[in-house]
Amino acid sequence: MSETQVGRSAARPRELFTGQIGFILSAIGSAVGLGNIWRFPGVAYENGGGAFLIPYLVALITAGIPILFLDYAIGHRFRGSAPTSFRRLGGRAVESLGWFQVMISFVIALYYTVVIAWALSYFVFSFDLRWGDDPGGFLIGDYLQVGDPGVSFEFVPSVLIPLVFVWAATILVLAAGIAKGVQRANVIFLPLLVVAFLVLVVRALFLDGAADGLNALFTPDWAALADPDVWIAAYSQIFFSLSIAFGIMITYASYRRRRSNLTTPGLVVAFANSSFEILAGIGVFATLGFFAFQQGVAVGELEGLTGVGLSFVTFPAIVSQMPGGAIFGVLFFGSLTMAGFTSLLSVLQVVSAGFQEKFGLSARQAAVRVGGVAAILSILLFSTTTGLLALDVADQWANNIGIVASAVLMSVVVLWVLRRGSELRYHLNSVSTFKVGRVWIVLVGGLAPVVLGYMLVSRIVTLTVEGYADMPGWYLLAVGWGAILVIVVGALLLTGMRWRFDPDRFDAWPAYPPGPRAGMAAATGSQPEGPTSNGGAS
Ligand code: ALA
Repeated sequence: MSETQVGRSAARPRELFTGQIGFILSAIGSAVGLGNIWRFPGVAYENGGGAFLIPYLVALITAGIPILFLDYAIGHRFRGSAPTSFRRLGGRAVESLGWFQVMISFVIALYYTVVIAWALSYFVFSFDLRWGDDPGGFLIGDYLQVGDPGVSFEFVPSVLIPLVFVWAATILVLAAGIAKGVQRANVIFLPLLVVAFLVLVVRALFLDGAADGLNALFTPDWAALADPDVWIAAYSQIFFSLSIAFGIMITYASYRRRRSNLTTPGLVVAFANSSFEILAGIGVFATLGFFAFQQGVAVGELEGLTGVGLSFVTFPAIVSQMPGGAIFGVLFFGSLTMAGFTSLLSVLQVVSAGFQEKFGLSARQAAVRVGGVAAILSILLFSTTTGLLALDVADQWANNIGIVASAVLMSVVVLWVLRRGSELRYHLNSVSTFKVGRVWIVLVGGLAPVVLGYMLVSRIVTLTVEGYADMPGWYLLAVGWGAILVIVVGALLLTGMRWRFDPDRFDAWPAYPPGPRAGMAAATGSQPEGPTSNGGAS
């Protein structure tokens, strides 16, 4: 029997963003997420303060933007989810890279939702400062009820209820499709987020001690630039933050019209994301300056400057001490919830799109099935008394090993094995106003695999030799390496399954290498479209 069933392909036209603005807002909504608010300020502070901006900008320009363009080019040229696009690019073996990215997104979605659920709870808690005088004790004891590392099926209702709510909202949006669901949610939440966050930052700047906080963040420690770990931190921050190399931007670019400017919006997205990140740094450190001032200590002596500690312990403590703190808390946790939610939509759309195309599902069917399974797993794994620890470990591995490995593989396979760099560059330039030079190929094919390959090996060695956060080795093996195993095995199994339509019946546009007929087609946009439906069965 043939591997594919041709003929179910053209039933549904591919969904599209309604225009450039809808796409840009959705791509910024994806990029601006938890990584910007709770990770960037602390990472910058711990890795050289003001001096960190140098590796950060170098990482943005040498890897972030080039790989963002690579994602856009692949998704737009091959008009499919990550597995479909890679399949069209390089056949079945390369399709597995797309499923690898889908599985990374799936794993990330399982815990990313949980943090949004916490933020949502704290949004509500802000109204009456529910954490009282001891936010640390409240978080660990009362709210999360954290137990020892291990396997627990003791559910924590205070996490479970908002988690179910976040999953339901996500499934509803994804089921409504790209234009009516994802784009609409971003058009509503992104402006709200920007306004709420700007109000928060302006308020923070007028607090006593704000200047000390900013000095602590921006005073450069030039010696840090000699430390390779600082550079690694910059590159990993950029990848997660820009939502690149795990399928998101391939998927989003695939929902753009044929003649869509790709590179200029890409630059807008990249700089908007970094601006938000720096804005978050200013807001968070101005607030920390106030806290240090209240306690009569230096900012450097404070604890909990990043991640869970920053958002759910330090910030609540500050909110309690601030005049009008409840409003500040509502703005902060409301921003965290909105930023997280718009990113989560994009993470899960990667999975949904992959399933829609391979198994011929409609957006609604995929949202309900994929979202339903993910919701159950996320509840089982992360709404129990061991949720916090599992989340921390899964995040380390999925991010530092999964995403970085995916970026290395993508650049080696596409540029070196398949040698498609010139074709993709031609594609970018044939539709975009900002033209990319050959240097793009050098960055994506040369510098990126070397720098990222080094990063990957050094992370694997560190996590293997030193472990992580004093957690037992068996636990890291089960949850961290276990997550990687699930990602790889899942990717292989999904690659082996049968397509419901022929993914290879497809005309890349414009033709490459360019010939006289291709030139005509490019000018008129007249080349026939291949079967790019997002599902044909239902
Ligand atoms: N880009 C998203 C974030 O920063 C995933 O959280």
